Amino acid sequence: MTKLSKLQKFAALKTFPNVYSSKGHDNPFAVDHNGDDLDMKGQWKKHFKNENPIILEVACGKGHYARGLGQMYPDNNYIGVEIKGNRIFTGAKAALLNKEENVAFLRARIEFMEYYFEPGELSEIWITFPDPQLGKARKRTTAPRFLDVYRNLLKKENNIVHLKTDSAELYEYTLEVLEEQKVKILYQNDDIYAQPLDFPELEIKTFYEEMHLKDNRTIKYIQFTL
Ligand SMILES: C[S@@+](CC[C@H](N)C(=O)[O-])C[C@H]1O[C@@H](n2cnc3c(N)ncnc32)[C@H](O)[C@@H]1O
Repeated sequence: MTKLSKLQKFAALKTFPNVYSSKGHDNPFAVDHNGDDLDMKGQWKKHFKNENPIILEVACGKGHYARGLGQMYPDNNYIGVEIKGNRIFTGAKAALLNKEENVAFLRARIEFMEYYFEPGELSEIWITFPDPQLGKARKRTTAPRFLDVYRNLLKKENNIVHLKTDSAELYEYTLEVLEEQKVKILYQNDDIYAQPLDFPELEIKTFYEEMHLKDNRTIKYIQFTL
């Protein structure tokens, strides 16, 4: 099979039925989908054609969690949000070939999530191996400004946020922010593979996680509710 260039992948993404791309500064509310400009806020159930819970994977890369959870829980819907089109291409193409109808992708910056989802539209958020942004605390995906966005978009009751990371700094930072904000931590573990896993979902391994495991890094996990 011939290898596609980045530009060919971006062009192909526009034809994928499971991919929506931000219109960016031109029209921040709209996403481009098969050539149509759509406002997806509050509309994702129309994509999935059901009322099932919607769960987001933030900075999803190739979408290993969105896809893995989608296979584990067919009665939930999953959306991977990621800025890099070539990474979405890999996940979205695999999801299409595998007929994973409960999985979709949004190519957008997570800073602008409130343009694309309505308050209460999400049930859970998975943050999988985000860049720990060691020098810039406010850019971390668990910084207070991001927690405010998640709080706004998640349903008010029984929502869950999951953070899986190899970064001790991000793990400690997140626990500090959660404590400051008096957020209820449901579970925390700074070395999940040191004992049998407490949740079957933690079996899923992302592209970055596999690399960190090869480097003998320990994997950390926090589960909390906003
Ligand atoms: C370390 S990778 C992890 C990817 C994937 N979750 C995994 O574990 O394999 C971090 C990802 O975050 C994406 N990313 C970084 N900043 C972002 C932003 N502001 N909005 C959306 N995605 C972003 C990057 O493009 C990259 O794919």
